[in-house]
Amino acid sequence: KQAPPCTLVIFGAHGDLTKRLLTPALYNLIGSNSLDDHFRVIGVDRIDGSDAAWREELGQTMQEFTKDPDGEFYTPQINDQWWQDLASRIEYHQADFTDLAQMTALGQKISGNAVFYLAVASRFFAVVVENLAKVGLTKEADDAFRRVVIEKPFGTDLESARVLNEHILRVLDEHQIYRIDHFLGKETVQNILAMRFGNGIFEPLWRREYVDHVQITAAETVGVEGRGAFYEPTGALRDMIPNHLFQLLAMVAMEPPNSFSAETVRNAKEQLFEAIRPIAPENAVRGQYTAGTVDGRAVTAYRDSAGVAKDSDTETFVALKLEIDNWRWSGVPFYMRTGKSMTGRRTEVVVRFRTAPFAMFQDTPVDELTPNDLVLNIQPAQGVTLNISAKIPGQKMQLSGVEMKFRYEDAFKLTPNVGYETLLYDCLCGDATLFQRADNIEAAWRVVDPALKAWAADRNGPERYAAGSSGPEGAEELLRKDGRSWSRLDKAG
Ligand code: BG6
Repeated sequence: KQAPPCTLVIFGAHGDLTKRLLTPALYNLIGSNSLDDHFRVIGVDRIDGSDAAWREELGQTMQEFTKDPDGEFYTPQINDQWWQDLASRIEYHQADFTDLAQMTALGQKISGNAVFYLAVASRFFAVVVENLAKVGLTKEADDAFRRVVIEKPFGTDLESARVLNEHILRVLDEHQIYRIDHFLGKETVQNILAMRFGNGIFEPLWRREYVDHVQITAAETVGVEGRGAFYEPTGALRDMIPNHLFQLLAMVAMEPPNSFSAETVRNAKEQLFEAIRPIAPENAVRGQYTAGTVDGRAVTAYRDSAGVAKDSDTETFVALKLEIDNWRWSGVPFYMRTGKSMTGRRTEVVVRFRTAPFAMFQDTPVDELTPNDLVLNIQPAQGVTLNISAKIPGQKMQLSGVEMKFRYEDAFKLTPNVGYETLLYDCLCGDATLFQRADNIEAAWRVVDPALKAWAADRNGPERYAAGSSGPEGAEELLRKDGRSWSRLDKAG
């Protein structure tokens, strides 16, 4: 089904996000015939430019990104017809969004349905929204919706997120606001809900009686890679935890919603987030990478990266232990970790089930049984793996760990996508299920706020870990003191 006709206005036309993610997503939406004939795009930025020059610029970066065989969006050959179709719908508008006269001029190009996409630095979110309202562009009519998509980071702590929500809610209604988190655009993240609620087998076991603990990992091999200026005041916690990792947590831990409608799903998330204890600082570990080797290439220390202070205390790794005070999860720790320049790239959720109560097999004692881990592989592996014990063929009753595996590429014909397709499409269709509500964002900040405050007051700074390792020793200790250990980052698959 095609999304309704609409003008998509992208603030930040020359930005990385627009080039690397939004344009390929729009191209894919054209390819899947998901956009109406009257759908068009206006790119807004301060610098002088023309429609033709912007099309050319986007076309070039599309070529670059699609030709990278390691990239998420590898397509050996761009479909020229799709590209021409998209290019014919895009125009460029030079404007400074802090200048009301220039915003009024932009408004003259827009009638009917419009989505305003804020692909700009977060410090501009409030001002763009206010100015859109001042020139009348956020006013809806019976036959015209007006929506605003807001990127992350949404605030830098609880207080600033509250202030930002307050600002934008002064001029917009909540139903017009689409706070985006690109993790929710990932098929494998949406699949967590499909797994849990599209099958009868998992949900009865999905609780404290059967689950020992849960681990959520987003480990990256990339370092700060030229993003020093953004990363320095941000750090790993703000960059990844209250947004991406909390979305994974919500998918795994929330109560079954009665339907897949926006308010029902977001209520279920809220109910979960409210049950998470604000983190005790001793349950939060931070690290920063020093020089090392990742995938055979030498990596300089974070402090020696461009745009980073020589005495920077910004964390590039964080590990947390979260506790949830509700009927389902009381006593089941949820461990989270994320970091840059680590030994392996993997984003996954491991649900570790309790072991068999005793082993009746003489040749395999209970502590040698393979722990039953249900691994939700988000990336780069996409699928689900269940680790079980099975009998080794032979006369002895000896057991060994084996895997039951579902892989997306085996089961489905995959088309490359950048993860923004579904989110853009949903926004055009007015479906906010996969977007954040104001209270969800604030609830996540409330949980992590004590760690941010404690770190700001702690002169010791983050622990060091070598680039190419599994993170700092403190992260290992966080689990070791509970008699547990992290899943390995360097194993294949
Ligand atoms: C972004 C962060 O939001 O997510 C980056 O700012 C991070 O630092 C990225 O690398 C991870 O997303 P993905 O989709 O590559 O796992």
